Amino acid sequence: MNASETQRDTAERLEKSRRMLESIDQEHLLHFVEELETEQLEELLGQLETIDLPEAVRMVERANTDTFQPPAPDLISPADFVPRHPENEQAAREHGEQLLKAGKVAAFTVAGGQGTRLGWNGPKGSFPASPLTGKPLFRLFAEQILATGNRWGRPVPWYIMTSPINDEQTRAFFRDNNYFGLDRTSIFMFPQGVLPSFDEGGKFMLSSKHQIAVNPDGHGGSMRALRASGAIEDMKSRGIEQISYFQVDNPTVKALDPVFLGLHAIDESSSGQLSSKMVPKTSYNEKVGVFCQIDGRNRVIEYSDLPEDLARSQSEDGHLRYLAGSIAIHVLSVDFVDRITGEEGAAAMPLHRASKKVPHVSLSTGELVEPAEPNATKLEMFIFDAIPLADRSMVYETDRVEEFAPIKNAQGADSPATSFTLQIERAARWLEAAGVQVPREAGAPSAKIEISALSAMGPADLEHLDLPKAIEPGDELVI
Ligand code: UTP
Repeated sequence: MNASETQRDTAERLEKSRRMLESIDQEHLLHFVEELETEQLEELLGQLETIDLPEAVRMVERANTDTFQPPAPDLISPADFVPRHPENEQAAREHGEQLLKAGKVAAFTVAGGQGTRLGWNGPKGSFPASPLTGKPLFRLFAEQILATGNRWGRPVPWYIMTSPINDEQTRAFFRDNNYFGLDRTSIFMFPQGVLPSFDEGGKFMLSSKHQIAVNPDGHGGSMRALRASGAIEDMKSRGIEQISYFQVDNPTVKALDPVFLGLHAIDESSSGQLSSKMVPKTSYNEKVGVFCQIDGRNRVIEYSDLPEDLARSQSEDGHLRYLAGSIAIHVLSVDFVDRITGEEGAAAMPLHRASKKVPHVSLSTGELVEPAEPNATKLEMFIFDAIPLADRSMVYETDRVEEFAPIKNAQGADSPATSFTLQIERAARWLEAAGVQVPREAGAPSAKIEISALSAMGPADLEHLDLPKAIEPGDELVI
């Protein structure tokens, strides 16, 4: 195109966007268009053409009417769960191993979050998360994926959801680290969708004169992103049937757990569509979502939505009745994701609203306003809202030390410090199970230990290694 053709093309695109914005009463997004440099105008038009704003308006309307309201307490009951060591554990393990051997399982990490609480300058997956060698989260998962592929003779494809905000940085991080030794072609990275924030009047906002204020559409957005990115088609073409879903901030997650995969596929409490892991809650008011049953279907109720008397209620043996805490580890079948994101299920995931401070450009002054108080609503989808869409959904108990050491905050609960403690405790338990004497002080290991998944993915793998008989207090041991 020559210069005048380009100009004409831009003018046409602008006109088209203007008509679209007028039809949804959001034409203020073009308020500063006359002031923009060519590149800035291009950027704004790019956003207007790629974000489906009419759909976003429908979502805002839907969010006003269709948010989840917990039903009356007498309609809620605790979800059943498969205990940590079920009778069919061995059969489940073998089935899961068969799935891995047949190359029917993919790993899927959602890494599109903004990680505001951790405050790390970079994608959260690049955060140094192991206690001694400081391996980044992505490397810890890559090692498990590599080790699993090697063990069963079939490389495991790895799907990673980023966001438009961290996609480039994440790709660069993988490139710089030589894809952590994985085959480049087995990694499929794609950005999730975004949704515009809106003010009290339902108007979208400008974060600068040429940018619409948007946020990633939540981990539940992974469902529609799997479809939109072509990942579902890619999975089908590779013969993948099951997706092992986990979040980027949990370094101890079993990325590909044969027992869980097997139970998901064969246990009678499962439809093979969507299964979840849970850990028993430590107290009635622990801030985790709880697996409940409503109308015969499992779903997670957020801690803030579960009536307090239910949360406190105990069974005859003194355990919390609402015990099963959600830890965002799931297996989903490709067919299930295909169904819930297709025509029939497109509007199936509810939207959650959250108040947020959104810096924005004032239309009257053109100045950037940094609000001290929340001034906008953001919409997000949550992965656990897919649970009631499954015909039957299995919940499987796991152990906190074995599998849940999240890094969410810079300090305090769920911080690097608490995660390191859990990771070292797990390593100590594995070594003790393999007959190594681990020094402990007031119950906690007094040595630092880190075990790479390339050496062992569980205590049984340690038996084949040449290990010391005992570790001394203060030792630092990397296996
Ligand atoms: P969190 O809910 O902890 O959010 O995400 P976050 O954005 O990472 O962190 P804060 O709240 O800003 O501090 C749990 C998991 O879901 C992913 C995150 O990357 C993390 O793995 N996630 C969250 C997405 O992939 N996309 C989102 O839009 C939100």
